[in-house]
Amino acid sequence: MKKSLILLAGVLFPVMGWASGGGAMYPNDDISIDWSDKAAMQRGAALFSNYCLSCHSAGYSRYNRVGKDLGISDELMSENLIFTTDKYGEKTKVGSLMKVNMTGEYAEQAFGTAPPDLSLIARSRGTHWLYNYLRGFYLDDTRPMGVNNGVFPAVGMPHVLAELEGLKTAKKEMQDDGHGGQHEVIVGFEQVTQGSMTAEEYDQAVKDLVAFLDYLAEPYKETRQNVGTGVLIFLFFFLILAYLLKKEYWKDVH
Ligand code: HEC
Repeated sequence: MKKSLILLAGVLFPVMGWASGGGAMYPNDDISIDWSDKAAMQRGAALFSNYCLSCHSAGYSRYNRVGKDLGISDELMSENLIFTTDKYGEKTKVGSLMKVNMTGEYAEQAFGTAPPDLSLIARSRGTHWLYNYLRGFYLDDTRPMGVNNGVFPAVGMPHVLAELEGLKTAKKEMQDDGHGGQHEVIVGFEQVTQGSMTAEEYDQAVKDLVAFLDYLAEPYKETRQNVGTGVLIFLFFFLILAYLLKKEYWKDVH
């Protein structure tokens, strides 16, 4: 009885997760990350330290480790990507963890929720979600920050990339929710003020940023995949060898 219950839970939970994750989101565009494109990740790292690291930390990563992986020298890192100071007022060192100065309590007062650490966000939310979330902010004067989000409704985060993207309003429509009722869904955005980037440039910038977050969440991903391929190739040749050996041993038995 107990066993079958556990089995049932094992089958049901993933299905429930899938069902709840399938909620409507707008925008809902696909993204693919090119792990060999280190230049994109470098641009993403610059965006991250300029626009995100003031509120969010990436407390599992050190600046110089990121630099080493992405080919950014310690000097460049220190000059262009580090903007925080330590508790003595000195500039944060390249060997430090990527932490913010703001305290959790202060952030909670200012935004209603503390901005979460983003080290592993690409694994918990996925790159698809992140790509659309960062392109999903629209004007909404009922919200404390003046913006809402088509992917994360009633989000507490302001649209920090508005100077790049500009501001948009959402076009909404009533649609059947499939259970006999109606609900409001976003069907499009309308640009109201221009940012410093065109729509294509902004999409590319967000893609770079998400590529960087994806790297951050799993710095060993590339190594892991290469090792995996190597192991499979080894096993394949080992199989042939083992088979030949088996034939040799059993040759005289029959
Ligand atoms: C002004 C402070 C601030 C800045 C700057 C900021 N954020 Fe946020 N962010 C927040 C707050 C606050 C939340 C929590 C929102 C909530 O839960 O309602 C949040 C939430 C998020 C989430 C959702 C986390 C989750 O899974 O719940 C992501 C992803 C995120 N931010 C990414 C970014 C990125 C990428 C940048 C840089 C482009 C950035 N943020 C810059 C304040 C900020």
